[in-house]
Amino acid sequence: MVMAVQQTHAGQQPFEGKETSTQASRLRILYHRARKTTGFTNSTRFSFWLVLSGLWVPFILSAMRHYNYDTSFRNAHIFTGDWYYFRQGIYRVAMRTHLATVLPAGLFAIFQFLPVTQRKYKTFHKVNGYIVSALLIFGNVPAIIMAPVSFGGTASLKVAVGVLAVGTSFGTYKGITTIRRLQLDEHRAWMLRTWGWGKSY
Ligand code: HEM
Repeated sequence: MVMAVQQTHAGQQPFEGKETSTQASRLRILYHRARKTTGFTNSTRFSFWLVLSGLWVPFILSAMRHYNYDTSFRNAHIFTGDWYYFRQGIYRVAMRTHLATVLPAGLFAIFQFLPVTQRKYKTFHKVNGYIVSALLIFGNVPAIIMAPVSFGGTASLKVAVGVLAVGTSFGTYKGITTIRRLQLDEHRAWMLRTWGWGKSY
């Protein structure tokens, strides 16, 4: 980038501030354009969505490399000893099923929290909502199967997995029943809660 900077005799750079403020206003315009496109009327809510999705998407995309199970997943888990369990049998099937369900669910769930899908693309919101909810709940089954060997299979870990599996399933059920009764605020609250819990593991 070419900086339009002119030195004055006093060592000041009169155009540098101007350039910075132009960049800042360009960023501001981009930010507000993105906020409007995604349907947010409130900057704070948009910023929260941006930060949370901004952290979440790279995590999901990076975890998807484990779809190369016998190379990527194996290399990441061989030194921790986890590969001993996850290389074959029921735990292998469980881990592969968990990755195949919760990763796409987590990726596509971010669209559910965009106001534009809630107001403008209602059919997408509905269909995508049922798909990601089903994937999340289905992903709980292999999670329960893996609990006895996950992170050492301690009692606290098993309790955590059980609580999360019940919590996310119940939260999804509440999210669906509330929207069927047209209780929008309750629906939003239950879905935010459920995905917050789901992402916590
Ligand atoms: C959207 C939600 C979720 C995502 C994106 C997700 C993602 C993942 C990923 C990427 C792994 C492999 C981690 C590794 O490299 O070792 C994993 C493992 C696991 N997940 Fe999930 N998960 C989600 C929800 C849940 C929930 C709700 C539970 C509990 C009910 C759960 C329980 C487990 C268990 C027990 C393991 C095995 C961990 C290990 O021993 O390495 N996950 N999950």
